[in-house]
Amino acid sequence: MNAEQQSPADARRERGTYYATTPIFYVNAAPHIGHAYTTILVDVVTRFHRLKGDDTFFLTGTDEHVEKVAKAAARAGVTPQTYTDQVAAQFRSTWDAMGIAYDEFIRTTEGRHQQVVREVLQKVYDNGDIFYGEYSGLYCVGAERFVTEKELVDGTCPDSDEPPEYRTEANYFFRMEKYRPWLREHIERNPDFIRPERYRNEVLAMLREPIGDLSISRPRARVPWGIPLPWDEEHVTYVWFDALINYWSALLSRDLEQRYWPAVNHFIAKDIVKPHGVFWPTMLKAAGIPVYKHLNVHGYWLQDERKMSKSLGNVVGPLELQAKYGRDAFRYFLLRDMSFGLDAGFNEPAIAERINADLANALGNLLNRTLGMLGKYRDGVVPAFGPLEHADLALKDAFMALPDALTDHVDQLRFERAVEDVMTAVRAANKYIAEQQPWTLAKDPTQATRLDTVLRTCLEALRCASVLLEPVMPEKCRALRVQLGLPDAAASLGDARRWDAIPVGTQASAGEPLFPRIDLAALHEELAAGDASAAPLEHKDEVEYDAFAALELRVALVTHAEPHPKADKLLVLTVQLGPESRTIVAGIRAHYAPDELINKRVVIVANLKPARLRGVTSQGMLLAAEDADGHLALVSVEREMPAGSEVR
Ligand code: MSP
Repeated sequence: MNAEQQSPADARRERGTYYATTPIFYVNAAPHIGHAYTTILVDVVTRFHRLKGDDTFFLTGTDEHVEKVAKAAARAGVTPQTYTDQVAAQFRSTWDAMGIAYDEFIRTTEGRHQQVVREVLQKVYDNGDIFYGEYSGLYCVGAERFVTEKELVDGTCPDSDEPPEYRTEANYFFRMEKYRPWLREHIERNPDFIRPERYRNEVLAMLREPIGDLSISRPRARVPWGIPLPWDEEHVTYVWFDALINYWSALLSRDLEQRYWPAVNHFIAKDIVKPHGVFWPTMLKAAGIPVYKHLNVHGYWLQDERKMSKSLGNVVGPLELQAKYGRDAFRYFLLRDMSFGLDAGFNEPAIAERINADLANALGNLLNRTLGMLGKYRDGVVPAFGPLEHADLALKDAFMALPDALTDHVDQLRFERAVEDVMTAVRAANKYIAEQQPWTLAKDPTQATRLDTVLRTCLEALRCASVLLEPVMPEKCRALRVQLGLPDAAASLGDARRWDAIPVGTQASAGEPLFPRIDLAALHEELAAGDASAAPLEHKDEVEYDAFAALELRVALVTHAEPHPKADKLLVLTVQLGPESRTIVAGIRAHYAPDELINKRVVIVANLKPARLRGVTSQGMLLAAEDADGHLALVSVEREMPAGSEVR
């Protein structure tokens, strides 16, 4: 068949090549949920491509030549190599315990990687794109890069939240600025080079102004831990120049670059957009290596609205969660509850609620009811279809549309939609049972064929769902098919395009419940018990009622909000109190964006003596709750009350 005769669906079904990577993680901390998310995501995506029949390669690994490692190793009294061996092994064993099917695990301390780094450096040096010079600036050890004054947020690095230090060093520099026009044009011409669009725009904004040249070495005397430059052994390679090359060295060292490069999809979170969106493509260009295909950027998992990270100490162990909720159910939650590109909130009740709603109620119910009825009415033996009626065909059509829909969703990074589309079809199957009432059909012997058809329809629906969800829940989906009487084997996407794949006469039998419900009340109790260790409250002295009654508290409607021109912690609000309008200055800029406040009804102290705050007079004060970590939430009233209403 020539290309012109191919339908788009046929073209999609062609065997493609797919190479996907996670960041290689720093070895100064144990793997946490943030690392686990990207790794699970890439595992799901590569499993989906394998399901489709694509030639797939999945790379992960560890980034080991960081200054922090040298320091941590010194503190632990071991050599950096011993230290990183331990942490790298911990990453590897965590991924193994989580069933991550990576094809290669690369470590930047391996000889095969170091050799490629030196070759790439030499090539760029020989091309005249590396020079020796002096540089002074703000260096962030957390992010391992120089940051500009402009990038700082409240004096700290935007990537790591750590304050940078001032450094002057004689280093080698990569002529990155030279490649800026090329990169800008490349991104403009290839709208899906960096996805989603918000991150593409972020990088384009960086490229509108000079990006400068990139310092790519450190004096060996200061950082003995690193790859020496091939032409000057007194300097070691800068960590990003070393680390980014892993994506290439892992293939090259196995002679796989012809097969998988440049069909590469890098997956990262938004913390490392600049190195991947600016340093990496310009490095590739200078080294004469074709630039990667897609940079896919996801948001953060937040706990209590803050990025989960080791340094913030709010880390939940992925192995703990997997043990508690089950490996597949935990993966399902992560895929379903993050909208790619945006931040998502993380908490255990949300995991439990998602599992109960989608896995126990929707999918688990469909399985239990279908196998229960098949056992009761047909001794567990899979029947043939009778003539299909409208309702049967509607459900079949809904399932048959899924393989192409999911392929598009995965291509376009809409993972939560992919999962949700399958669940929508599963819910439709539950509704189909409720409407067809097999229990009524079972009472009427003339309806035997009709009952066969209804049962068979549900069985095929379950089988198709198990194929489509297999990348997300590999173990559960295979176990589900085993309960249907099918072999314990991996599926292919083609299996989900069939509606007649279970041989008539197959013996099915319900086994262990696959998707048990989580007892939410018990979970809440357990979590509350965990919080009980919190410090006791410190109360203020008691006051007479009059002291309280002297305060005039009122509901106020926010009509305008803007940053205070002279203070970066303050916002200037205009609020409406009945007919009266007032200006209030509030120290909530770190917690609320001005736009989010418009039309909020807040509670203010209306008879506080006016005060001038950095040149603006505040006619009252907002009330807000503050937790032990300093997070704020504005006080409002539970129902919509007219602005000006008194709060007593
Ligand atoms: N070593 C560099 C990457 C070099 S790649 C050539 C690095 N390592 S890291 O250990 O800090 O990992 C950062 C990555 O971990 C993020 O890009 C993301 O994949 C993952 N995450 C870390 N915390 C996260 C969240 N709170 N939420 C989502 N992903 C998170 O940077």
